[in-house]
Amino acid sequence: MENEGRMSRLASMLRRRGVILPSFEMYGGVSGLVDYGPVGASIKRRVVDCWIDHWTGIPNVREIDSPTITPESVLQASGHVGEFNDHMSECKGCKRVFRSDHLLEGVHENPDTLDAAKLDDEISRNGVCCPSCGSSEWGISSPMNLMFRTSIGAMGNARAAYMRPETAQGMFMLYPALFRHFRQKLPFGAVQTGKGYRNEISPRQGMIRLREFNMAEMEYFIDPESPPEVDLDRWGSEAVLLPDPEGPFPGEHRVSFSKAFESGIVRHPTVAWFLAMTMEFLEKVGLDPGKVRFRQHGGSEMAHYASDCWDCELLGEHGWIECVGIANRTCHDLLAHEEHSGSSQLRGWRQFDSPRVDSRDVLAPIGSVIGPKLKDKASEVTELLGELQELPDSLPFNLDLGDGSVVQITEEMVTRKTVEVTSHGEYFTPHVIEPAFGIDRIVWHILDHNFREVEKEGENYTILSLNQEIAPFDVSVLPLFDKDGMGEMARGIATRIREIKGIVVDIDSSRSIGRRYARCDEIGVPWALTVDHTSLEEGSVTVRRRDDQLQVRALVDDIIIRLANGTMEGLF
Ligand code: ATP
Ligand code: GLY
Repeated sequence: MENEGRMSRLASMLRRRGVILPSFEMYGGVSGLVDYGPVGASIKRRVVDCWIDHWTGIPNVREIDSPTITPESVLQASGHVGEFNDHMSECKGCKRVFRSDHLLEGVHENPDTLDAAKLDDEISRNGVCCPSCGSSEWGISSPMNLMFRTSIGAMGNARAAYMRPETAQGMFMLYPALFRHFRQKLPFGAVQTGKGYRNEISPRQGMIRLREFNMAEMEYFIDPESPPEVDLDRWGSEAVLLPDPEGPFPGEHRVSFSKAFESGIVRHPTVAWFLAMTMEFLEKVGLDPGKVRFRQHGGSEMAHYASDCWDCELLGEHGWIECVGIANRTCHDLLAHEEHSGSSQLRGWRQFDSPRVDSRDVLAPIGSVIGPKLKDKASEVTELLGELQELPDSLPFNLDLGDGSVVQITEEMVTRKTVEVTSHGEYFTPHVIEPAFGIDRIVWHILDHNFREVEKEGENYTILSLNQEIAPFDVSVLPLFDKDGMGEMARGIATRIREIKGIVVDIDSSRSIGRRYARCDEIGVPWALTVDHTSLEEGSVTVRRRDDQLQVRALVDDIIIRLANGTMEGLF
């Protein structure tokens, strides 16, 4: 089939078959918002379930669920209030506003790596014209925060808040509960799926840039001094890696994940592990591995919270698109929340192999002086002196009691001593490695990679070759006619299939059988069961396989067993 117009044929099929549609269309629609119809919602649900199963397969990873409305204080601490910006440029001619990096697409190789000054430079140097009015006069680019602001509560009592721009902060808020749940032992992780919101400046490209979208993220908490050991050889296949062009490994590398780590292309073992797991997931849900690559961020492209980040990009009708970000967030978030909230529960505990004995200088209180002098404050001051990590250079000094008051400690109250202290472990701030998936972009690329157009009887025929795990229905039951008991038998079969855990069944008795097969193929149903007159006599149906349209006759009881066992392939 001709490739020309493929994108619009795919988009029109998605709309016609109730897969993905523009939201609020009867009121003119809103760009950046889409609906999943009855077929699409089923596909998306199964992709999300598959994602959750994949990542919770790692020991010590559990799912959590937190609110999408987030108080401002949380996002101030995380840096999103100050730094979660895109640069926008205003056209001086028509006053329309565009994302500055989008204006440079096709002009600059990687415009989202440019800072504000460079964006302005490139826009003016290349004489970029306004896509709306054609003017090439631009104001200087300025940052716009991407979060949707809202408030919690009414009027004077309202508290500033935002719709969450990522699910990750929910996981950080739950760190103390996770730490308890996992018996104070790192590493452990939490996954969360759900909506994220970003007030994108110029949403376009359908599912690629939405204002409300589906995220799936894992925050994996590790001890940076002993990250988990993983046998990367488990993932033998090679992948395309594009390290930072300004780093030590410029250019494209086709390597296995273990080689990528051994050679230093990927610096962190947990990042390498998650790159491999990401590739495995993408193949599981039916993406074409030949259209996947991993690209490392350059310094100026990196999110404010990351020290290293690899984007997983998928090739489709929109070109290469970032669909997953795998970031080393270090201790950025936990440390920031500790500082802003004052919580002392955002630490991990590192047990030493054997106790450590250190000598430490202390200010030992002289009880006979401190007691009479400080009276009821004496024991508190004694305790605080024992906890002092850094001793003052000279005396007297002011000891902060932590309740706003201070006590002056003078020479005659203390003696400076060196003591031996035995410690069995220490507290530290865990580091976090995060794979962040955009489910809508993944779903779009699954549809794109599996949308096959073939010529059949002189006509354009489309098949969506979805893996059974994520097909909208595993099986469709089709009575040849809804009469003579065939409809009833089909409904009975569908009821029996519905009882099999994890199997989704549809029943369709409308119009000709040929049209119904075509619908099944178009929305990706891998198996169709046709109930005909013979079925009534023999208890059998015709099983039709989507991908080659082969048909065999089989007993209903046999099919039920095969579906319950997870495969029908043995029938053919
Ligand atoms: P982009 O550079 O395309 O704006 P991003 O770098 O801001 O994306 P991240 O912040 O890393 O994206 O978000 C994690 C994932 O969420 C992305 O890999 C992508 O799949 C998805 N995502 C981000 N923004 C959107 C959006 N506006 N619409 C749909 N999915 C999105
Ligand atoms: N949590 C990753 C991101 O939002 O970019």
